[in-house]
Amino acid sequence: MLEHGGRLRAAAQTFGIPLESWVDLSTGISPWCYPVPTIPETAWHRLPEPEDALDAAAARYYGNAALLATSGSQAAIQMLPRLFAPGPVTLIGPTYNEHAAAWRTAGHTVTFVADLSEALTRGAPVTLLCNPNNPTATQVDRATLLHAASHLQRRGGWLIVDEAYGDATPAFSVTPDAGMSAAPRLITLRSLGKFFGLAGARVGFLFGDAALRYRLNDALGPWTINGPARWVAQHALNDIAWQTRQRERILEAGARLHTLLHQTLPTTRIASTGLFSTCMLTPSTDARRLFEHLARCGILTRLFVDDGLVRIGIPDDSAWPRLNDALKSWQHETHTENHDNR
Ligand SMILES: Cc1ncc(COP(=O)(O)O)c(C=O)c1O
Repeated sequence: MLEHGGRLRAAAQTFGIPLESWVDLSTGISPWCYPVPTIPETAWHRLPEPEDALDAAAARYYGNAALLATSGSQAAIQMLPRLFAPGPVTLIGPTYNEHAAAWRTAGHTVTFVADLSEALTRGAPVTLLCNPNNPTATQVDRATLLHAASHLQRRGGWLIVDEAYGDATPAFSVTPDAGMSAAPRLITLRSLGKFFGLAGARVGFLFGDAALRYRLNDALGPWTINGPARWVAQHALNDIAWQTRQRERILEAGARLHTLLHQTLPTTRIASTGLFSTCMLTPSTDARRLFEHLARCGILTRLFVDDGLVRIGIPDDSAWPRLNDALKSWQHETHTENHDNR
């Protein structure tokens, strides 16, 4: 099993701070969860039916009916590589670690490159990126992605874009194009876990080519999403007023987090996208020190030690003072240290 954020219990033990005292900013999941209405008994009682209104709600929300609902985008991430003949795969990284692991497990050879233009020079049958990228927050615009998709398609290649964090910035999304005549070999992944804050429901979607979706559906088997999760997902996808409010508050909090980090870590490069900001520290020991400092203040973030990165999710309204104080004390500590070393 690979390492992920959200392991608050383990952090509580390591740092000796009680569970209830932590602020968890380690995941990039929205601090505001979709307010789940009372779930009807039938959703528990009956077998989940693929003919319910989930696909239609998703088609409206994402602007594309060429979809397959999966148990979180993770289910698609794990199974998709098995539908391609083993061969070279180019990933733009560093990125969400499950992608490389899944392609390697299925017998592919994974190569990491720094950006999309470098990926296009590789000529691999499969090119994959996350947009926005987790953890670097890099975002590629729609025109560039569509150009890349058509470039790869002319050479018989596929472009896979994981848009798990894409809901707050829909102008960048290529989901409406996935599997359409202009981009038949473009595949996208979406998640209800991040923007909607419904990570526990395990609902995601794959968009793209019909034959591929058919094979994926077959490989995943029946009832991959449970009845209550299907029911909640439909409500969330149809609730336009809540989505609008959610987008506004995520973007507002994202900008506030960027400003706070910029002010308190003036010499550190900060990359931000709605739901999280990432501090790019060199050397990587500084990343560990910042992570541990915040953890001692009861704030759990996500450390990517090999890449020298600390990813910080947006807090809810109540957690700003804690984050502010923790960053200020870090600033004070490092400033004093630098001063003493002169
Ligand atoms: C980039 C990215 N894609 C996909 C996932 C999987 O999300 P889920 O399975 O909850 O849809 C994650 C989880 O952290 C992620 O960071």
